[in-house]
Amino acid sequence: MTTTAADAAPTTGDGPPSDRTVPTNREAMLEKIADLAEQHAKALAGGGQRYIDRHHARGKLLARERIELLLDEGAPFLELSTLAAWGTDFPVGGSIVTGIGVVEGVECMIIANDPTVKGGSSNPLTVKKGLRAAQIAAENRLPTINLVESGGADLPTQKDIFIPGGATFRNITRSSAARVPTVALVFGNSTAGGAYVPGMSDYVVMVKEGAKVFLGGPPLVKMATGEESDDESLGGAEMHARTSGLADYLAVDEYDAIRLGRQIVRRLNWRKQGPSAAASYAEPAFDVDELLDLVPSDLKVPFDPREVIARIVDGAPEGGSGFDEFKPLYGSSLVTGFASVHGFPIGILANAQGVLFSEEAQKATQFIQLANQTDTPLLFLHNTTGYMVGAEYEQGGIIKHGAQMINAVSNSTVPHISVVIGASYGAGHYGMSGRAYDPRFMFSWPNAKSAVMGPAQLAGVISIVARGAAEAKGQPYDEDGDKQMRAFIEKQIEEQSLAYFTSGLLYDDGVIDPRDTRTVLGICLSAIATAPVEGARGYGVFRL
Ligand code: COA
Repeated sequence: MTTTAADAAPTTGDGPPSDRTVPTNREAMLEKIADLAEQHAKALAGGGQRYIDRHHARGKLLARERIELLLDEGAPFLELSTLAAWGTDFPVGGSIVTGIGVVEGVECMIIANDPTVKGGSSNPLTVKKGLRAAQIAAENRLPTINLVESGGADLPTQKDIFIPGGATFRNITRSSAARVPTVALVFGNSTAGGAYVPGMSDYVVMVKEGAKVFLGGPPLVKMATGEESDDESLGGAEMHARTSGLADYLAVDEYDAIRLGRQIVRRLNWRKQGPSAAASYAEPAFDVDELLDLVPSDLKVPFDPREVIARIVDGAPEGGSGFDEFKPLYGSSLVTGFASVHGFPIGILANAQGVLFSEEAQKATQFIQLANQTDTPLLFLHNTTGYMVGAEYEQGGIIKHGAQMINAVSNSTVPHISVVIGASYGAGHYGMSGRAYDPRFMFSWPNAKSAVMGPAQLAGVISIVARGAAEAKGQPYDEDGDKQMRAFIEKQIEEQSLAYFTSGLLYDDGVIDPRDTRTVLGICLSAIATAPVEGARGYGVFRL
């Protein structure tokens, strides 16, 4: 069956575009998008103007300038984890830029240190972001290009990075063992542990008079052995190209290093192993801009995800939405169905009325298995308050039905992409392939909220428990204190549920403008198709 997206009119109670409540949704979303741009600007500012100017004055390129020159002309760059470290004590962006870009026609994971932030040194969020980029590269078989200029460990926080950070170097060599190439272009400092980035890479380019790659710099060598030395003899590009053999190519300057990086990728003889996109496909039947009108600013107000889907997926050849809904009359608070995005087939699960009942859980379980039978990747559009609670539902087996869905999600081997387009609360976050369920990619819209439950509900639960505890002890309950405690907790949970906050902790791969969703999905699906796509042959025991 092909849905028609209900004649493109929002069914969310907002009314048709002429209705004056519609601009409210649009205005609220545009405000959030403008704020998102401000948060992204913090990452783009790196270590601040003073350090940017100093870097340029040294004749060096910034991390994003290096990336721009490395990419094919006009090719998109899907920057990931841009808001890493948001809400922490570390600068937004995590002192590193990561993302998927096309170099000589090859989709690559690009990881670039930002030398304007604390000399490009790695703090705990830098490590977390780098490891996430490596995970994406490994799961999707993406060659990795490291653009290196780093002061190594952020020394004041070394206790939080030294031990977990070792995985950075392990991952590079594991990529090579999996026959996925790794390239290091060394522009500047690459000290101590950082020396193992070029050390582990398949191909190494070093910039003359720029790269400095040593286990210990002159002061450390003096301390350790008493030997007098200088940067060039210990780790200069010329020395490594002519004497140690650590550098495979000596670049005369940064531009030359980028040219050599592109030349290396050109000779990789790289072949994608996944499915190809359809040769032709129709653009969505409905205007993507209308996504701004569709999503109510109040997350408690439900909206029809078919309206969202119709503006993300390819249009039907005969016109209208290209979404073929599966089981539309059953478990209506979860919409399931098949479509394609930029010619890549995809199965979609999207919450409708928020709550997941037993019917929805079982429908999802069946649908996930069907997608695995046909090697079809899955897209989860989160807007759920979780699984239904209450005696009737417990007696009806909501736990085991939810467990079936979570089993299917956990053991599904087709790639998942999750996008939080509203709320993502409770075990609903798990059933919808939340972060812990290893979706290949996960993004949030700026209005998204993820938490164990809604802030008011959480504060209410704590209040009920505290009241019960006081009664059990025969103590009077402090009503004024309760009011203050609820307000405080509600505010705190509200802040911690925000998309920026969860993105800052790397619980998603970025916060995106809803209007970019289709493009982002297209880039992800194409990257995913670098690796074979194969559905699960078996599952754990389904509790029936
Ligand atoms: N940890 C924490 N902060 C560091 C750092 C590190 N590893 N490396 C540099 N920084 C800080 C500096 O203290 C300075 O901070 P400030 O501007 O607030 O004073 C800022 O980053 C810029 O450093 P600066 O030395 O001015 O920059 P530079 O571009 O001239 O030199 C390096 C960069 C990386 C070559 C140089 O800072 C350096 O040698 N750092 C130590 C490298 C090292 O031995 N690391 C050991 C890793 S195990």
